[in-house]
Amino acid sequence: MIDHITGTATVLIASLIFLFLFKIYMPPLDFPRNIPTIPFYVQFLPTLFRIDQVDVYNMYIRESMEKYGAVKFFFGSRWNILVSKPEYLKQMFKNEDTFAKSGNQRKIPYSLIAAYTGDNVISAHGDNWKLYRSSITNGLQHYDGTPMVSNAILFCSLIKKSINSTEGTVTVGPLIQKLTLANISQIVLGFDFGTLSKEHSTIHDNLLKNKKKIFNPLFLTFPFLDLLNLPQRKTGFQEVNKFREELVATVEQELINNYKFEQTTFAASDLIRAYNNEQLNFKQLADNLTILLVAGHENPQLALTSIFYYFGKYADTWQKRIREEVSKVSEINELYNLPLLNAFIYETLRILPPLNIIINRCTTETSQLGPNIVIPKNTYVGYHNFGTTHDKNVWGLRCEEFDPYRWGCDILEIKTNWKHAKNLCKLPTFHGGKRACLGEKFANQELIITLAESLKRFEWVINNDCSQKMTPGGPLCPADLKLKFKCLDKD
Ligand code: HEM
Repeated sequence: MIDHITGTATVLIASLIFLFLFKIYMPPLDFPRNIPTIPFYVQFLPTLFRIDQVDVYNMYIRESMEKYGAVKFFFGSRWNILVSKPEYLKQMFKNEDTFAKSGNQRKIPYSLIAAYTGDNVISAHGDNWKLYRSSITNGLQHYDGTPMVSNAILFCSLIKKSINSTEGTVTVGPLIQKLTLANISQIVLGFDFGTLSKEHSTIHDNLLKNKKKIFNPLFLTFPFLDLLNLPQRKTGFQEVNKFREELVATVEQELINNYKFEQTTFAASDLIRAYNNEQLNFKQLADNLTILLVAGHENPQLALTSIFYYFGKYADTWQKRIREEVSKVSEINELYNLPLLNAFIYETLRILPPLNIIINRCTTETSQLGPNIVIPKNTYVGYHNFGTTHDKNVWGLRCEEFDPYRWGCDILEIKTNWKHAKNLCKLPTFHGGKRACLGEKFANQELIITLAESLKRFEWVINNDCSQKMTPGGPLCPADLKLKFKCLDKD
């Protein structure tokens, strides 16, 4: 009898393992057969070998993507359809109700990442999204950007301190993060985290701790592991909750208790008003404050890191030229119309779009991309930003070249080409259509002000150019970037 039970249990376990492996190995049978399948293991390669996500794209994805414009791709414990062809992207962005936003709060509600950012303006669909977006739009479009100027000066002082005044090497990521946190906290949340002015900021320290756990590649690929309640993940959940509680408590202390939110137009103040009017519940308030903080500082952080990298890479050419351009300007407003500076930023955002792969839409019915890719209901569909911006069918044979001149020569032409590329979905760096990024103006201003100040104060080169790798997966920028700075100040 015992033998019989043991035998049955063994067969059952073996069948479950087989089913699990089959599910990982093979896309569902109703997935479109006329697009290629990327082997499930490719995303693990950067963890095993010294390659980054750009290498993975070039070795395993590029050929299929360029030929078909869409592929089957395993990520987040499931098979998805990943799209790069602008026509397909346009269709997806336009048919908002068919390719409905369905972020982590719906896709993997039990995961650490879902606990972190919840139901927010980026991941929500329908009435919730409309409510969140209408609450924060004014604060993200009409804000007082003055702190960006003093923060850029403080940021340069921190670089100077790190290089012992005249010359030296700096790992720039942590300093850039301090800057972007200072900007988002002062301009959007309505108070100062003190990341640039204090030695330690609790929110910053906790954010770093959380990030490590949330972006653990194993749990990102197999989020169902969070259901196992492993001890190290348990602490992760506790820390994420603590972080969110601290953030809301600080908002309460800074804006609510002294009624500051009533007189101010920070995006956070608008969210508090919506909460007080009972349009939002407390969790929705916390979710949206968290996403403003996270998206509002991380994305510009990635962009700035990449731009500093390209300035370092082209120190003798672009860096010199743009320093000269910037040095002729006396009013901050003039910076927004400098052709070389703006074209350089646009080209970096094309060549290294900070958010590379985004998979957060789910089909609400059987749908079709182009003339013949039929996608079943309840399928997750995402877009490959790098795939689109590096596709020779879209950007021509010189798509791999870093060439700011491709945007044009005078500022009107440059800005028109940028808008045009976005409208045609040739450049999904900031998404597009109704769900276009609400922080593009903010990010652009932050990049311009910070770069202008840095170019006036320093020259820099990459510490070790040939071995520079990009991040292994997820957010895209040079990994662990080290730059050699030389101070141009006379004092
Ligand atoms: C260089 C910097 C940035 C880049 C590259 C970027 C990129 C993006 C992208 C690709 C999306 C669409 C995400 C998706 O498909 O789910 C998005 C949405 C969004 N971004 Fe940004 N972002 C940047 C900076 C910011 C900043 C600074 C803020 C806030 C201050 C912000 C706020 C938002 C919001 C609220 C949305 C949601 C829009 C909606 O769905 O209605 N972003 N961003």
